[in-house]
Amino acid sequence: MNYAFILGTHSSWSVAELLAVLGDNEVSWSNDRILVKKNTEINAENLISSLGGTLKIAEIEMEVPVNMPIPTLAKKCAELIQVKANRGEGKLIFGLSDQGIGGHFEVEKLGLNIKKELKSAEISSRLVTSREKELSSVVVGQNKLLSKGAELIFFRRDKTLIIARTLAIQPYKELSRRDFGRPIRDDHSGMLPPKLAQMMINFAGQMSADGLLLDPFCGSGTVINEAMLMGYTNLMGTDLSEKAIKDSRVNAEWLRELYGLETRAKFHIKNATRLAQFLKPKSVDTIVTEPYLGPQRDLNDITTIQVELAELYSKALDNFYSILKDNGRVVMVWPVFFGREFIEPRLDKWQIINLLPERFIDLPWLKISERGTLLYHRDGQKVWRELIVLEKIN
Ligand SMILES: C[S@@+](CC[C@H](N)C(=O)[O-])C[C@H]1O[C@@H](n2cnc3c(N)ncnc32)[C@H](O)[C@@H]1O
Repeated sequence: MNYAFILGTHSSWSVAELLAVLGDNEVSWSNDRILVKKNTEINAENLISSLGGTLKIAEIEMEVPVNMPIPTLAKKCAELIQVKANRGEGKLIFGLSDQGIGGHFEVEKLGLNIKKELKSAEISSRLVTSREKELSSVVVGQNKLLSKGAELIFFRRDKTLIIARTLAIQPYKELSRRDFGRPIRDDHSGMLPPKLAQMMINFAGQMSADGLLLDPFCGSGTVINEAMLMGYTNLMGTDLSEKAIKDSRVNAEWLRELYGLETRAKFHIKNATRLAQFLKPKSVDTIVTEPYLGPQRDLNDITTIQVELAELYSKALDNFYSILKDNGRVVMVWPVFFGREFIEPRLDKWQIINLLPERFIDLPWLKISERGTLLYHRDGQKVWRELIVLEKIN
């Protein structure tokens, strides 16, 4: 089957995550919000719960000429809805999302025409609209579009209008519960949003579920918790701070109970720059971590911060080199101050892995640094994040 993946706001990271998970053959784009993957089989519901960067997964149902008259298109869409929609009690509920049609295509008008067509087939329906051109996952979820009807997504490629039907949406309630509902939050040291942790784990590539995944700057344990939920069973978090390790233990226990998981992660107070004294050589399969990122506000002396962080990361990387298996990966985020001041640790024993194949890196909306790494920032943020994926040079 052919699928459309609706990308999150940080499209570059979303694309890289999908390529890491699904592979890059039969993949294409229509715009910066949609990735299309053809001729594949997936379980959308399962897959979306482990993808941090995808908002919706939809199945491509039809491709029609972009100038098809609205009444004809409405008839086709109504037929599609009749065949494929999930019907609950009461009215059939449907919604339409313009995910990059371009021009003056009127989704609202199309919706009313579909409603009319459904009525003539004796189906009473409710059309869900929103102020945005596309319905958010929250609107789709709250209106029960997937259990009591359907959402159709429209996007364009050249002269073709592609129509896809949503199969699964990002579990926004669960993600928010894991982020804001965990027993201990540490806003002072900072925490990764669970979605970002999921993406980082996926960037590590395929790893056996019982391989050892280590977060050596684990803070309150976001990476370990998300990895536990993604089915990894051999997990270790270490941190210099006693409080961080206590917090991680509490958060991990909370998650285990919430989801009825059997895995127990191990947590230890350890300095990341001395890990080789604690863990055996080549005993770790993957390292996924958000290290200490330096001050986030008092940014007067950037040069000193850069030198100190480069030293911390270099020492940690020396230890990672010793404990990591030869085919293992390190996935980290490093700060980029003001979007231009990068950290330059010693990388002579490492190669930076470019997550996007050559043929994709010209896309204008991808945010890529000169060293080929992906960047992440929100509007107005002084400290950007750089995604670093490393493999050993053996
Ligand atoms: C940005 S926080 C990590 C937050 C974590 N990703 C989370 O979501 O909770 C950085 C962590 O690095 C720890 N840290 C700083 N220097 C360290 C070192 N040399 N070795 C190990 N941990 C260190 C801090 O105690 C802090 O918990």
